[in-house]
Amino acid sequence: MNGQPHIVVEAVSHHYRPPVGRAVLALESVSLEVREREFVALLGPSGCGKSTLLYLIGGFLPTETGKILVEGKPVAGPGPDRGIVFQNFALFPWKTVLKNVLYGLERQAMPREEREARAQAFIDLVGLSGFEQSYPSQLSGGMKQRTAIARALAFDPRTLLMDEPFGALDAQTRSLMQSELLAIWEKTRKTVIFVTHDVEEAVFLAERVAVMSARPGRIKAVIDTRFAKSDRDVRRTKPFMDKVEELWSLVREEALKALQGTHPRSADALRAAHHFGGRLGDGVAARPGVVDDVAVAQRRSAGLDRSGQLGRSDSQRLRLALPHRQRPCARNRGGRRTRHLHGKLASP
Ligand SMILES: Nc1ncnc2c1ncn2[C@@H]1O[C@H](COP(=O)(O)OP(=O)(O)OP(=O)(O)O)[C@@H](O)[C@H]1O
Ligand SMILES: [Mg+2]
Repeated sequence: MNGQPHIVVEAVSHHYRPPVGRAVLALESVSLEVREREFVALLGPSGCGKSTLLYLIGGFLPTETGKILVEGKPVAGPGPDRGIVFQNFALFPWKTVLKNVLYGLERQAMPREEREARAQAFIDLVGLSGFEQSYPSQLSGGMKQRTAIARALAFDPRTLLMDEPFGALDAQTRSLMQSELLAIWEKTRKTVIFVTHDVEEAVFLAERVAVMSARPGRIKAVIDTRFAKSDRDVRRTKPFMDKVEELWSLVREEALKALQGTHPRSADALRAAHHFGGRLGDGVAARPGVVDDVAVAQRRSAGLDRSGQLGRSDSQRLRLALPHRQRPCARNRGGRRTRHLHGKLASP
């Protein structure tokens, strides 16, 4: 046991009400408790509401139905106790890597040299030494992602909310970053909620994995995934592989529902195919109209098409998801709105 509940999500539902078109029920009666210093992974098909749940816990979206408590207090907005790594990085395009990482630290009463040393230590940790003065536009997707991770870690929040933080990394860097994250977690014992589509990554990193249903997202199952992380060969052991299989069958079922509940060429079907392409049953893969999408999905999941890692729709949806004042801009669209989001990020 890891102690008291740190984060309590109780009967939370969330509707998106876009200015045009119908309201979308993204989450329905989601309840989840995360204990202090626990590492929980969220798994589920694309579009099931994982990011939405993270934004709600992070305070970037208001909780309309149900309640969310962090350390016993209702979430009223973002705060420095919760560091978030957004799915689309959300870096300041006009700041260098060093300045992006320093940003969260600038609000802390810390001498300048100490701040800079700390930022540098995290830049080194994520393997970006030498790129301190580069701007986001000069970085690859993986480098941007590592900058966002360094920024979230540098100000030492008690809770880390990570939305597919390793999604744009190559396999080798991903594996290194997984080990680093585990080492940081073991040393600092933060409470971590980690969104991923990678079942093996979830089983390897997390102590428990919450599997979400297809939209509207609900918690379908919470599975214990405690393994001896220090055992380098743990991934090759039978209990580990059995656990991965158990989770796969739960997630696969939901991915199929996401596909079947939508038009074959709809955005959700595409995204589900993207994430689970390699794992879809032949029957679904053969449905007219899905074949091409699955082929694209398989290229993407095999890492052959990196452009798929950050679909345009993701950034669009994130911008729409947030109130006007808080909308981030993944690309440089001239500063003010992004500044608001990050102002929120670091302010209590
Ligand atoms: N701004 C928005 N306006 C309307 N609907 C939205 C908006 N943002 C998200 N949605 C809907 O809410 C659902 C949940 O979205 P969310 O981004 O939380 O899913 P996700 O599980 O993070 O997906 P992915 O794995 O693709 O990142 C989606 O199916 C989408 O249809
Ligand atoms: Mg998401």
